[in-house]
Amino acid sequence: MIELFRQYPALKRGLPHVSLGDWPTPVARLANIGQDCRIDIKNDAMSGPLYGGNKVRKLEFLLAEAAANGAQEVMTFGVAGSNHALATALYAEQQGMRCISALTPQRNAHYVAKNLLAALSTNAELHHYASEAAASHGARFQCLRHRRKTGVAPMVIPGGGSSAVGTVGFVNAAFELAKQVANNELPEPDKLYVALGTMGTAAGLLLGLRAAGLATEVVPIRVVRNSIGNLPGLHKLYDATNKLLHEIDDRFPLISLQQDVIRHDQFGESYAVFTESGMAAKKLLAQQENIALEGTYTAKTMAALLSDMHSGKLSGLNVLYWHTYNAVSLDARIAGLDYHTLPSEFHPYFERPVQELDVAF
Ligand SMILES: Cc1ncc(COP(=O)(O)O)c(C=O)c1O
Repeated sequence: MIELFRQYPALKRGLPHVSLGDWPTPVARLANIGQDCRIDIKNDAMSGPLYGGNKVRKLEFLLAEAAANGAQEVMTFGVAGSNHALATALYAEQQGMRCISALTPQRNAHYVAKNLLAALSTNAELHHYASEAAASHGARFQCLRHRRKTGVAPMVIPGGGSSAVGTVGFVNAAFELAKQVANNELPEPDKLYVALGTMGTAAGLLLGLRAAGLATEVVPIRVVRNSIGNLPGLHKLYDATNKLLHEIDDRFPLISLQQDVIRHDQFGESYAVFTESGMAAKKLLAQQENIALEGTYTAKTMAALLSDMHSGKLSGLNVLYWHTYNAVSLDARIAGLDYHTLPSEFHPYFERPVQELDVAF
């Protein structure tokens, strides 16, 4: 049973949940990179059998919500290489559902082609839209079209899975971490570094850590444009998630969020544009700790942690890096697939060069 339900059993009655992943995910010390501080990793890389990373935790609640609503399909959003859209396609199919994805353009990188092919291997329907406005308009049309076809409207899952329901997955994750601290698998972290995208991961951790009695400070590293990842939005999502849990079980406390920090210094030029400091962090982690980061989220997050360490800000502290990227191989799944069967707007990701900094080590 997941940790949140163990501590608040009444939540089970109002919060549908389906088990998709392998919990708890491991914690381990990164002994080779910590200089005058202790660094541990909470490693969600292999969090599920089909695809790992942070999305599995959200989908355990989101796909259960869809099933409880009688939906046969879910409609979601992302960029062309979205890890969230891919994870949703994979686990929706496993649960006997189907994902319809509204995808928008992004800077090219090797993982975009890989994720598109992996989505092609599922029963997902992929649509390309030239802008976010076009995607939200197009999604409304797709929902109507599918409802006419199947008699049931697809359940809409916001980009990144960051609704209040999806965010509960990371409230639970914090309880999972608290148990590992209680079991002496790692010391209580003074600071926790995590990527900030659609904010469900950070919002859920902030709420869950306080509810589970940990004093850990969360350092969210913004890797998306400001209009997507920002403090008012973080507070709003946190409050909505807290309200949801409190309404289902009034034993779950209402805790006001004291967070005035989002880090902006690693964002670089744009979303999914890799940075020199991120790539240096990626290289270091691959060589010293055998951990595979990627340029859009996790390399930028680790770059922030390393920069703070080198400037002495982490001296004597226990630091936790929350690893949010998948490490389940997609190679067997995509072998032999032909990208020409994707809608033509996605073909440039296979035919045009990737960005300069996207190199293998
Ligand atoms: C690998 C990875 N890390 C971090 C994030 C950010 O999580 P969130 O969208 O919950 O802020 C995402 C997704 O957006 C992701 O794919």
